[in-house]
Amino acid sequence: MQKTKINKILKKKNRSPIVCLTAYTRNIAKITDKYCDIILVGDSLGMVLYGMKSTRNVTIETMIVHAKAVKEATKKSLVVFDMPYKTYTNKFSAYKNAKKVIKLTKCDAVKLEGGKKIEKIVSFLVKKGIPVLGHVGLLPQTSKNFKARGKSNAERKKILKDAIAISNSGAFAIIIECVVEKLAKEITQNIMIPTIGIGASRYCDGQILVTEDLTGLSDFSPKFVKQYANLNKSIEKCIKNYTKDVKMKRFPFIKNVYK
Ligand code: KIV
Repeated sequence: MQKTKINKILKKKNRSPIVCLTAYTRNIAKITDKYCDIILVGDSLGMVLYGMKSTRNVTIETMIVHAKAVKEATKKSLVVFDMPYKTYTNKFSAYKNAKKVIKLTKCDAVKLEGGKKIEKIVSFLVKKGIPVLGHVGLLPQTSKNFKARGKSNAERKKILKDAIAISNSGAFAIIIECVVEKLAKEITQNIMIPTIGIGASRYCDGQILVTEDLTGLSDFSPKFVKQYANLNKSIEKCIKNYTKDVKMKRFPFIKNVYK
């Protein structure tokens, strides 16, 4: 089942754009599952749900609780578990932790941030039968500077090498975060596996965004996000109307009462 889903994704390279979104909860997973090839249980939940300043304090235990809920609510999409900071510092800890999260959550794959530095870890996991989604460019777990990457020639060469290393290590796809368009295009043309962009242009083989950002539930709206709705406003309107009804004794109405 997991192999079939991965093969379907691999076949989309250069053919049909791959649709990916994040989900941290059961309700969002049920909706995204209808449309997405990949659902990522991202460690961005630290900021989006828990108000943390970065993803660095997200624990594997918190991720497991959310990933279990997401996977249980998902029927068709490939569900990827985002390995938190410092849970894959060497190939042995990476394998121990990845094996544990796959066993407990039944997720289909894990995501690791990094390039050449983690190529041996990626190839070890893949050899052990754990599918890996790579992540290069801006790396939120270790970056201090949240600006677009790949503007200088040195940075461009490094990120291209990183992507090639991860592709050669056996990852089934790779997320490219916040890089200039020209570099995203170059990476996509130079590796065999699909590239999934976030702030990395339409030249990638697919796109991913944080669902709370595109639905306007979070207050994060960088240039690369298109906001399709303003859920914050809609929810506030509901709560305002409920408050009015309670205060005016209009709620509960006859139909909301047991007789
Ligand atoms: O944690 C996350 O949600 C991510 C995506 C934004 C790519 O890594």
